[in-house]
Amino acid sequence: MKPGAYVHVPFCAHRCAYCSFVAIEGRTEEREFFEGVEREIRSRAGDASGGLRDFDSAYFGGGTPSYVDARHLRRLLDALEEVYGLASDVEVTAEANPDDLDGEKLRALRDAGVNRLSIGVQSLVDEELLPLERRHDAAKARRAVREAVSAFGNVSADLMIGIPGQTRGTLHASLDGLLEAGVSHLSAYLLEIEKAPKLVALRRDRPDLFADDDEMADRWLELDERLEASGLPRYEISNWARPGFESRHNLKYWTLAPVLGFGVAAHSFDGRRRSANTGALAEYLRRTHRGESPCVLEEEETGDSPGRKEGLMLGLRLAGGVPSSSFEETLALLAPAEASRIRDAFEAGLLETVDEPGTSGVERERRVRLTRKGVLLSNEVFALFL
Ligand SMILES: C[S@@+](CC[C@H](N)C(=O)[O-])C[C@H]1O[C@@H](n2cnc3c(N)ncnc32)[C@H](O)[C@@H]1O
Ligand code: SF4
Repeated sequence: MKPGAYVHVPFCAHRCAYCSFVAIEGRTEEREFFEGVEREIRSRAGDASGGLRDFDSAYFGGGTPSYVDARHLRRLLDALEEVYGLASDVEVTAEANPDDLDGEKLRALRDAGVNRLSIGVQSLVDEELLPLERRHDAAKARRAVREAVSAFGNVSADLMIGIPGQTRGTLHASLDGLLEAGVSHLSAYLLEIEKAPKLVALRRDRPDLFADDDEMADRWLELDERLEASGLPRYEISNWARPGFESRHNLKYWTLAPVLGFGVAAHSFDGRRRSANTGALAEYLRRTHRGESPCVLEEEETGDSPGRKEGLMLGLRLAGGVPSSSFEETLALLAPAEASRIRDAFEAGLLETVDEPGTSGVERERRVRLTRKGVLLSNEVFALFL
C-alpha cells in the first residue's frame, strides 16, 4: 500500500462540549502555523529519499480544516507534491464543520485540491445539537451535506450515538436525512463524555437523558442493519461505506501502512518507526520557526510480539478481519496462557473464523474477524491483546 500524509489543523471557532481533540478556539496564529507545517514537510525530505514517495492519500484533520483559509491547504499539497510526489488519483480529504460550508467555501476547498469531505454532523435534530454546543443547527447541517454532495460527490458524515435526549427514532431521522442527502460514507461514534465536564454534570442532573449500555448497543445494531440494507456495509468498527467509497487514508492506519503526520500533535508511522509531534501549539511554532523538529517521541518498530499484537488489534477493527495465518503466527509467539485467553474469545462468540474469497477471487482465504457481538464488546476483546 502506498504511503499517506496527515495534517492536523488545530483551529476551531468554538470548542464543542464533548471534544477532547487538540483544538484551539480562534485562528489568530493560522498563518504562522501553516508556515511551520510547510517547513516541517520540507525538512522531512529525507523520508522521501528513504523510499516514502508517491502518496495516494492526504488527510486534513483537526480541529476544523474547513475553518481556515483553504489556500493554506493548497500550499501544503504543493509542498507534499514537491517533496514526496502525489499519485495522480490521490484521495484528499478535509474534515469540515457544516457551519463553514457555503458555496464559496466548497469551491475554495475544491480549488485547493480537496476531493473528499468528512463533515461533522453528529445529529440532524436541533435539541440534540444544543447540549453538544455545535455551532450549526440541523437545517444548516442538512443543507451543507446536500451542497457538499453535489460539489464533491464523495462525502462522509459523522454521527453520534448516545447524545443526551436522543431516542432510536431521532437517531433514525438523522440517519435518514444523511442517506437522503446522498452521503457515500458514514462514521458513527458512541458519545464519550468522561473527558467532558459539562456533559458529566448534565448526566448527574438529568440521568434520564442518557442511554444505558444495552440501549447504546441496540441503537448501534439497528444503525448497522439500516446502513447495510441501504447499500453502505460496515467495513470497520465505526465506519460504513458504499463499496468503493471506503476511506483510503484511514485504511492505512488499520493495515499499518506508512502515514506521515505533520502539524501539532500529529503522529507518524514510516513503516519502521512511530513518532509524535508536540501537542502544544506554542512549542510547535517555536520549534518549526527555528528550523527544529517538532517531534517529541520516537519508537522503533521491532516486529516482535507487542508490535504484532498491535497489528492484529488494528486489523480486527476491519469487517474483513485478519488472515488466519498471521493470527496463528502471532499467537504462537505468546505465552501459552495469554494465547489461550485469546482463543477463549472464539468460545465466547466474540471472534470467528470465516472463509473469504482470496484477493484473486478464486483462491479462498481463511480469516479471523470479530462477530457482531465482538464488535459491540470490542474493548473487551482488545484488552486480551494488551
Ligand atoms: C475532528 S472532528 C470532525 C470535524 C469538525 N471538527 C467537526 O466537529 O465538525 C471528528 C469527529 O470525532 C467525533 N468525536 C469527537 N469527540 C467525541 C466524543 N467525545 N465522543 C464521540 N465522538 C467524538 C465527532 O463525531 C467528530 O465529528
Ligand atoms: S469542531 Fe470538531 S474538533 Fe472542534 S471542538 Fe468541535 S468536535 Fe472538536
